[in-house]
Amino acid sequence: MNRRLKLGVLGSGKGSNFKAIMERIIDGKLPAEVRLVISDVPDSGILSYARDFQVPALFVNPGKYRTRLETEVEHDIARLLQEAGAELVVLAGFMRVIKEPLLKAFPKSIINIHPSLLPKYKGLEAWKQALEAGEKVTGCTVHYVEAAVDAGHILGQREVAIQPDDTPASLHARIQEAEHDLLPEVVRQIADGRP
Ligand code: GRF
Repeated sequence: MNRRLKLGVLGSGKGSNFKAIMERIIDGKLPAEVRLVISDVPDSGILSYARDFQVPALFVNPGKYRTRLETEVEHDIARLLQEAGAELVVLAGFMRVIKEPLLKAFPKSIINIHPSLLPKYKGLEAWKQALEAGEKVTGCTVHYVEAAVDAGHILGQREVAIQPDDTPASLHARIQEAEHDLLPEVVRQIADGRP
């Protein structure tokens, strides 16, 4: 029998990937439980989904930087996740670079979903980068988080075909559908002990 893998989820945006994880858990297809959701954006969709699902959720003020957390804040987040018993930290649309405090607190236990077939198109709006480069296929990747941004061991990928009439928005929407399948699936594989 599978035991339930305890998750901490960090997100800054809509929270559709968090929702996909919760739906898979509720359907009994993912032996996991979300112990804590943390967002750096007070009115983010992920926090309102967390309230809907009655999952403990916190806004944490990220501090004075734009692309990373203040070091003290990152220590606080690591402590909150540890106190919540998180075994795996899922970055589900978290728009800040993770540094040493979290990487040290959760070695090889932080995963991220990125909207391209890494190692291609790291960074922001990766779907737009793929479209503008004239690719025929892009997709999404789940990988372990390491110090280098959008690098780290790849755990799974899904391909998404680019249509001739795609806009950045239509392409991103299809990539997100693939993400909602891939991310819970990778979490399930980790829960099963075979990443
Ligand atoms: C996803 O496209 C993910 O690949 C990227 O941020 C987005 C998060 O979307 N890292 P959501 O907040 O889960 O809807």
